[in-house]
Amino acid sequence: MGLRKKKHPKSMGGQRRILITAYDPKSPVSEQYRTIRTNIQYASVDREIKVILVTSAGPGEGKSTTAANLAVAFAQAGNKVLMVDGDLRKPTAHFTFNVPNTFGLTSVLTKQTTLDDAYRKTDVQNLFILSSGPIPPNPSEVLGSESMDALLEEAKSMFDIIIFDTPPVLVVADPQILANKADGSILVTSSGKTDIEGAKKAKEILANAKAKLLGAVLNNKSIKSTDYYYYYNNK
Ligand SMILES: Nc1ncnc2c1ncn2[C@@H]1O[C@H](COP(=O)(O)OP(=O)(O)OP(=O)(O)O)[C@@H](O)[C@H]1O
Ligand SMILES: [Mg+2]
Repeated sequence: MGLRKKKHPKSMGGQRRILITAYDPKSPVSEQYRTIRTNIQYASVDREIKVILVTSAGPGEGKSTTAANLAVAFAQAGNKVLMVDGDLRKPTAHFTFNVPNTFGLTSVLTKQTTLDDAYRKTDVQNLFILSSGPIPPNPSEVLGSESMDALLEEAKSMFDIIIFDTPPVLVVADPQILANKADGSILVTSSGKTDIEGAKKAKEILANAKAKLLGAVLNNKSIKSTDYYYYYNNK
């Protein structure tokens, strides 16, 4: 049981997550993820954006949710997508996509396996996942290694888009390390949760890491049904 379309969310418990883009692609929220995808594609006009990092200032702001839905949105557009769980502090992608995590990113970086053998297919066509793998004692070092550069080069030759989930910028250095290697970064903010100073600080830290910030995503904004009424009736 994984990301089967039309399976009711309530029947999927535990830490498994429902991805609205896969479950209900026609919903307004899925449409928003497609808008983010389109904006990234426009940003890709002058220079190719293949490796996209998703991060946020603090914990629990919606990085993993955004990264996974964006990965689905890109796959639905026919891109061959690799979603990489680069959050070696609190990995969740293997729960989201219902795959084992006995090996993954760290196994490739420590040369215990190859990328080819480590990524897994998901229930979403065109979407593949490289879960975190076993958590090492020194995540920043592992992520900043030359093995990571080699992995990225190989992944770029195999996939159209590579999306990284990461830990929070204000908590650990890992996102900076990865942002420096990515073609672009997205900063997720959570409505009513992210404080503006934290977001600014995160932006500065990413800029210092020479990350190319593609934009910010506002997550958890409550939408009143009247907003849609307004939207559809005021063309
Ligand atoms: N837009 C949303 N609507 C409803 N629930 C959401 C939304 N975004 C995130 N959540 C839920 O909020 C929780 C935190 O989201 P998520 O795991 O994506 O955040 P995160 O930034 O990756 O957290 P962490 O810093 O722990 O890795 C999860 O239970 C997720 O299912
Ligand atoms: Mg997360």
